Amino acid sequence: MNSKAVQLKADAQGDLAFLQITDTHLFADREKDLLGIKTVQSFEAVVKHASKYKNCQAVLSTGDLSQDHSAQSYSDFSKHIKTLNLPCYWLPGNHDMQSVMLPSLLAEGLAQTKVIESEYWQVILLDSQVEGVPHGLLSALQLEFLQQTLIENPNKNTLICVHHHVLPVGSAWLDQHILKNNDAFLDLIKPFSNVAAVLSGHVHQAIDTLKDGVRFITTPSTCVQFKPNSDDFSLDSVAPGYRYLRLTASGEIETVVERINKDAFPVDADATGY
Ligand SMILES: [Fe+2]
Repeated sequence: MNSKAVQLKADAQGDLAFLQITDTHLFADREKDLLGIKTVQSFEAVVKHASKYKNCQAVLSTGDLSQDHSAQSYSDFSKHIKTLNLPCYWLPGNHDMQSVMLPSLLAEGLAQTKVIESEYWQVILLDSQVEGVPHGLLSALQLEFLQQTLIENPNKNTLICVHHHVLPVGSAWLDQHILKNNDAFLDLIKPFSNVAAVLSGHVHQAIDTLKDGVRFITTPSTCVQFKPNSDDFSLDSVAPGYRYLRLTASGEIETVVERINKDAFPVDADATGY
């Protein structure tokens, strides 16, 4: 057992269920848009949709909570997430401002927990942000934290959460902003056969792929979506969404991507950059 970990009570089957709500890119101004989508409003619609899942243990929020770095955007994030009546565990993305993020989320009661445990699982949340740049990097400290946590719990199935994508997604403009030291990360987790999956945000699209026995999963943003396999910046017209994950007692991950009504939040089809 990890002394810093939060213990989550699994359901009667021993399973844990999570909602991943990611890349909200909120503004203090609820009328402000990112590439055509009013991000506070699409986030609200996603949270409302996600409230149909009554059996979850927590929300996992994998970064880029704010687009304007305002304390208001972080407190609005908390306010809406709290309507789900679940604890929310979070990590920063490249767009976040941690000096504002941390006190704002703590003030709203969103704990700074980075390890979650149940009888059969542990979830580890990492910080891959390099302030001021879009790509990701795990510091020596973060890699050490990951390794220590894996060593302490060799028998629990493990889900690792990190904002930046670890494997290339096949879009040159996004892959330049990948987790830069992905080789170090992959080498580190290799000896730990209990690592089941790595869950990310950042790429604003749904991917679920297997490499060397580990699943690498990414999830739609609650606002704009990026077109898969496009070397240049390109928006996808698919709707904002989120992910439901069930981590079973037997070590499996069952997951589904959910999206809100496609026509409610059209993107700016002429946008050429982000
Ligand atoms: Fe993002």
